Amino acid sequence: MDQLNKPFRSLLYIPGSKERALEKATGLAADGIIFDLEDAVAVDEKASARELVAQTLTTRDYGLRGLMVRINGFDTEWALDDLQVICDTAPEAILLPKVGGAADIQRLARYLDNHPKCTRTRIWAMMESPAGVLNAAEIAAASPRMAGMVMGTNDLAKDLGARDTLDRAPMMTSLGLCLLAARAHGLICVDGVYNKFRDTDTLRRHCEQGRDMGFDGKTLIHPAQIEVANEIFAPSEDDLDLARRQIKAFDEAQAKGLGIAVLDGNIVENLHIAAARRLLARAEAIAKLQDG
Ligand code: COA
Ligand code: MG
Repeated sequence: MDQLNKPFRSLLYIPGSKERALEKATGLAADGIIFDLEDAVAVDEKASARELVAQTLTTRDYGLRGLMVRINGFDTEWALDDLQVICDTAPEAILLPKVGGAADIQRLARYLDNHPKCTRTRIWAMMESPAGVLNAAEIAAASPRMAGMVMGTNDLAKDLGARDTLDRAPMMTSLGLCLLAARAHGLICVDGVYNKFRDTDTLRRHCEQGRDMGFDGKTLIHPAQIEVANEIFAPSEDDLDLARRQIKAFDEAQAKGLGIAVLDGNIVENLHIAAARRLLARAEAIAKLQDG
């Protein structure tokens, strides 16, 4: 299944150096996994983590989960070695950190275009620098391989000089610009991490906020965060019931030659039906992931 059709309610980072965590993740309920070779891996473990992730990808079964490897940035000495080793495993996707503009994505795309095992490999962009956020639209459009954006809110806060407030007001401009760019180009967009991984109450508030803005899901750092993200970013029973009733009401109106239906005192138009069908498809994709 192409990544654009997969759910990404919960996207879990796993340090590529942690064998136990890599093993554990085969049984965790995260929709997607980021195998990290970048910031979660210490300098003296870069080479061994790269080999461990490559071996993990070829030997372990993560089912239908969306998988991606976060390589080190092109401004480091490790990026090309990462690509050389990881691309031999025919990875589902590469997540590129510190993306500043379309040129970074195009450089990765050219590398993948020249690799026989990467014909279907997707690209995701970490949106985590002021320049990257300002160039979000060109980044989203940079390659047909682009599948999504991951918000790197910790790096962004550092570069902006922004504080970590409960309402995340200082992040709203950046989150909104990236979301707009992703949606304008049909990409997935996943919200940044919440660092205090034992505080699931605040995580819940952040997830609700991200969901209300339109994000597909949240990046996570610990298994304890998965359940909340899966719950908040899934269509609720009420949402699904409304979607089914909207489709029914609209079909009935159309059968009478009408272009608009009325349901529970609200109008139902074509655009609502498109959204309702998208919601049902998302619920189906989630069910399929859980069964698989
Ligand atoms: N993915 C998969 N499994 C994980 C995990 C993760 N991100 N984080 C922890 N686990 C596992 C542990 O291996 C442990 O498994 P076990 O008890 O079956 O052996 C279990 O979950 C409980 O872990 P816990 O002891 O509560 O956490 P910890 O103290 O070992 O680790 C962190 C805490 C934050 C260091 C760890 O969660 C982590 O490294 N997270 C990812 C950080 C990251 O990738 N950052 C970069 C992007 S922001
Ligand atoms: Mg970062």
